[in-house]
Amino acid sequence: MRPSLAASLLLAVTLLGACDPSHVDEMRSQERLFLGSLGLSAPGPRAPGGRPGRRHVPSALWRMFRSSEDARTRESDPCTVSEYGVRGNIIRYVQDQGRLVSGWSSSCQACVEKQLFFNMSVLQPVELLSLAQLEVKFHWRPLRSAELLQAPGHLGVSLYKVIRATLRGANPQANRRLLLSQSLRLQPEPSSVTMDLTPLAENWRKPGRNYGLVVELLPLGAEPEQLLPFHPGHSLPPEPAFALPPIQASLVAVSLNPHQCRSRQRRSAVRLPVTPSNVCKARRLYIDFKDVGWQDWIIAPQGYMANYCHGECPFPLSESLNGTNHAILQTLVHSLDPRGTPQPCCVPIRLAPISMLYYDNNDNVVLRHYQDMVVDECGCR
Ligand SMILES: *[C@@H]1O[C@H](CO)[C@@H](O)[C@H](O)[C@H]1NC(C)=O
Ligand SMILES: *[C@@H]1O[C@H](CO)[C@@H](O)[C@H](O)[C@H]1NC(C)=O
Repeated sequence: MRPSLAASLLLAVTLLGACDPSHVDEMRSQERLFLGSLGLSAPGPRAPGGRPGRRHVPSALWRMFRSSEDARTRESDPCTVSEYGVRGNIIRYVQDQGRLVSGWSSSCQACVEKQLFFNMSVLQPVELLSLAQLEVKFHWRPLRSAELLQAPGHLGVSLYKVIRATLRGANPQANRRLLLSQSLRLQPEPSSVTMDLTPLAENWRKPGRNYGLVVELLPLGAEPEQLLPFHPGHSLPPEPAFALPPIQASLVAVSLNPHQCRSRQRRSAVRLPVTPSNVCKARRLYIDFKDVGWQDWIIAPQGYMANYCHGECPFPLSESLNGTNHAILQTLVHSLDPRGTPQPCCVPIRLAPISMLYYDNNDNVVLRHYQDMVVDECGCR
């Protein structure tokens, strides 16, 4: 890690008042501040090659990331997610943390149940939830084609919300409400069920309200002997290839952080000149996230042109230096008493956003629109 680069990044993104914030402590605290604004408590572990078993990035999220990159140079509202037609600047794939298979259902002998749990506290309280869409994917890969013939043709999929905790011995059905019930054809290609759960997910954000969901799978249209593998105590291996398609569930949560959504968002395609000069202006700086040790949790981009402000704010302050009246007076006083009063600082006065795709502390994949990441213009302040 090159501290000077990290310091420049933090300078670029945090608009510090001081001209030269190069202390390591200050840098650490600025890093924490920046991560906090991303909703992270600390950067992810820095094991080489990243964490094993990390979720792959859903292709829909990659598509949105690429289109947001293209949109940067166009006039487009960064606080609307056009893919879903809702307001938002953060898209999370919240990972299911429910227990894998809770065994054979007590209420339905041939059913298999899976709990789904999405920890909604990854959303910061300030965020407004615009959309929560559940996506349950069934990856059913028969090992042999014979299993395709033996297996039941359809699965009955029922989705329940759990409204309170069930005490031992009580009937769990009493604490559930059916949300959806449909039949799914089993096929070698993954199939999925999606459902809008926005009001429910909003409720889950309140403390003590999230009891999660239950998915119940019931093989349909099979002969009784074909159901054999679905029954407890059968003599086949505990998980025959066709008994239960592995379930992968995620909650796509789109939210808006209103503090990070100001109206002036235009990303100018500013090309910085490379003319040497010691007067205040924006300078080119490419930040490679590897250099600041963030490559394990930032998925994309790998780096970006962040730029920084540097240079003198000399007397008399010319108009092109975009000084405030205060800065004009400060340069005047500085010219009279250089020891007593410093020159104004050369700082960013216009910053532009970028989009970032990263893993949060819970390993959810997040696409977020980040303001104030690129210096477009500098001025004397
Ligand atoms: C949810 O996530 C928060 C913070 O990430 C954590 O403190 C909390 O224990 C989690 N809750 C559950 C039930 O896993
Ligand atoms: C001051 O602002 C103008 C446009 O408003 C810009 O062209 C110029 O580069 C800025 N000056 C500096 C030092 O960045």
